This record gives sequence, C-alpha cells and structure tokens, in this order.
Amino acid sequence: MVKLTVLSALAVTISSISAAAPTSQVASWPNGPFVTSGRWIRDASGTNVTYAGANWPGAADVMIPEGLQYQSIETIVSKIKSIGMNAIRLTYAIEMIDQIYTNGGKDIPISTALTKALGTTNGPKVLAQIIAKNPQFSASTTRLQVFDAVAAECAKQQIYVHLDNHISKGMWCCSTDDGNSWWGDTYFSTANWTRGLTYMANHGKSWQNLMSMALRNEPREPTNAAAKSTYNWQSWYTYIKQGTEAIHSVNSDVLIFLSGLGFDTTITPVAQGTALTPGSGKFSLSDFPGYANKLVLELHNYENSATSCNSLQSNLNNNGFSALGSNKFPVMLTEFGFQMDASTWKGVYASCLASYLPAQKAGWFIWVLSGSYYIRSGTQDYEEGWGLLSHDWSTWRSPSYVNGALVTMVKNTLA
Ligand SMILES: *[C@@H]1O[C@H](CO)[C@@H](O)[C@H](O)[C@H]1NC(C)=O
Ligand SMILES: *[C@@H]1O[C@H](CO)[C@@H](O)[C@H](O)[C@H]1NC(C)=O
Repeated sequence: MVKLTVLSALAVTISSISAAAPTSQVASWPNGPFVTSGRWIRDASGTNVTYAGANWPGAADVMIPEGLQYQSIETIVSKIKSIGMNAIRLTYAIEMIDQIYTNGGKDIPISTALTKALGTTNGPKVLAQIIAKNPQFSASTTRLQVFDAVAAECAKQQIYVHLDNHISKGMWCCSTDDGNSWWGDTYFSTANWTRGLTYMANHGKSWQNLMSMALRNEPREPTNAAAKSTYNWQSWYTYIKQGTEAIHSVNSDVLIFLSGLGFDTTITPVAQGTALTPGSGKFSLSDFPGYANKLVLELHNYENSATSCNSLQSNLNNNGFSALGSNKFPVMLTEFGFQMDASTWKGVYASCLASYLPAQKAGWFIWVLSGSYYIRSGTQDYEEGWGLLSHDWSTWRSPSYVNGALVTMVKNTLA
C-alpha cells in the first residue's frame, strides 16, 4: 500500500512535468518512421536501430498467427520480451486477402478458417482452445483482427512488427514445386500479390509498431515450366519495382525489405551493383523515387552443416552482406535456425552466426518461435523441433541455448 502511494505521487509529478514542458519530452516509442542512411537504419531522432527477433508464422492453412490455442498473445509476446528481443517477423499469406475480395470485402471469421483447415471436429475444438486462452476473441473474430491483436500486444510491450508476405496460398512454405515459388507459378499471381501487399500496407497503418514490410519470402526457381522462363534477376527487378510501389503508394512510412534469388540466399547483384542478368541493367536507387531511403536487403541462411566459420562468413558477405561494408544498404538475416536441443547451438553454424551478426550490427530473425503449428503439411498439431518454444508454447525448448547464447546475441546486436 505504501509503495502504491509513492508510485502514484510520482506519476502525478511526472505527468505534471510533461504537461508543463511538452517540447522537452523524450520522443515516444517506436519513434518512426524509420529511414535508411547507407547501411544504417535510423529512427526519427537519427538513432540507429536494428532488429533482433523471432519469426512468428501466420501464413499456413488457417492463416492466423500460430500458437494461440496454447497460450495468450500476451504470454507469447512476454516470452519474446523476456529475452530482450525487440521485433517479430510476422508472416501472412496473400490468399487471406484474396478471400477478403472474394467475400465482398469482408474478412473470414476464425471459426470458418479453422474448420476449413482442420475439419469439422478439430476446427471447433481448436477454436474453443483459442478462445479459452484468448478470451477477447470469439467465433466471429476475423483473421485480421487476430493479426491486429498480435500487433497491439507487441506495441504494448514495445516490440516492432516486420510484416512478411510468406506465400500466396496459405500453407507450409517453401519448395520449388509448391506452386508459390516465383511470379507466375500456379498460385503466385502477380496481380493478387500486388493487391495483397497494398491491402496489408494500408491495413497496417493502424498498427503503431508496423515499421517495415517485406515483398516476398524466398523467391526460388520453379519447376513449373511457364514460370521458370522468367526466373532471373532481370525479371526479378521488374516484379520488385511493382511490389515496392504497391506498398509505398499507400504507406510511405514503412521500410521495404527486398529478398533475392535461390530461396533468398543471394542478393549479390544489388549489393555489388552488378548486372541484373540476362540483361545488362543494374539496380538503381533512382528507380524508387521518393523512397530510396526505405530499402533494406534481407537474406536467409541455412548452411547448417558448415564446418568453417570463415567460409560461412565469406559466403554471407558474397551473397549480400558486403552491402554493409560498402555502406550501401542495411542487410538483415531474416531467417536462420536449427534444431533446438542441448548441443546443436554449440556447433559451427549457430555459434558463427551468434558472433558474426552482432559484430556487423546486422539485424536478424531466428526461425522459429513456434513450438508447434495448427497444421503443417497435412499434420495437425505438428511438433516443431526448431521452435524456440516447447510444443505448448509454455517454456523454452532449449533453455541451454537461450541462456547460453541467444540472450547474449540479442544484447550484443542491440548494444
Ligand atoms: C550509428 O551510425 C553511424 C553512422 O551514421 C555509425 O558511425 C555508428 O557507428 C553507429 N552507431 C552504432 C552504435 O552502431
Ligand atoms: C486471385 O484472387 C482471386 C480472388 O479475387 C481468386 O479467385 C484467384 O484464384 C486468385 N488467383 C490465384 C492464382 O490464386
């Protein structure tokens, strides 16, 4: 009781100070919009910022963020916050927006989405579990309202949201023959994609903490013959410009992340300013009028069997991280990950990234937060051995990794 009185007295004092001197207030979080300057990302006060966070998938069959049948959004965000992370990479499927358009502009309730993805027995069962853990939801809550709630809780706990278009059709990603590999592939309509990017860029304006959006997860060579013919850097550039325009035209605040070829393992021609083959044209910031200071490069790396940290670092550098050294672009590793057990994190791959990324002051998102998925590749309640969290999202799957390396990696990245 005594403590409470002191605290409220303090609160009164603080609020009267800020009311008296509004101009001297410290800029309030998240202090955006962010811009780039060479290899750095800056907030509105000019302070460097980057991300150290985790992937939170929401692009699979149900098309809502995972884990909510096991824990509340608040509990999950608190876990992320507890290890010092400052961002999530939140993924969504273009199909979610396609269905909104098909449905006369109205989003689908989660009850419908769950039954469609999990069946008439398990759909309602999982819905009841989600509502039990997250009583602010009901059967008529829509998918976007779930995304909104995740963003809002992240804002409350000062976690930035980076929104990632992971796939077109809502399902587990990614392979060369999944119909989502490249523009023109079976499910990957360029028009639906730009429409979806615009929709989410506009919708996300209501999220206080939406700082950046990505164009597309892991572009890759399709097995689909028709789509395969345009799998090159020259066509990539055409699509990328359509995508950045789709976002920037409705939301000029967010940073836009560009992903490269080969499952986004390389973005070399952009980082090094070499020809976008088979043509001879080059990437030019002048092709992004008015938002040349909004572009960030992102890479993925899964060289999990690396035996030499030197060669892993040199690969990362050649694949695009050289844009940091040449002060051209911020570069982030938006996916890397490994088996969450007692020892894998001590191996070359994980320990090399744990030192390399903070040393570069490069942002990153580990794959993946999920201890399990509503459904993955047809299996319901799928166990995720690479998940930071346990199956029921209640504890760390590998406490030795989190306490022995991850917390330090976060701290050193954000130092
Ligand atoms: C912030 O960015 C500037 C470049 O503008 C750089 O010189 C400086 O080292 C950065 N600070 C930190 C703490 O990384
Ligand atoms: C694009 O969206 C429409 C709904 O507006 C849908 O009917 C169509 O199947 C989508 N295209 C692809 C390739 O998924």
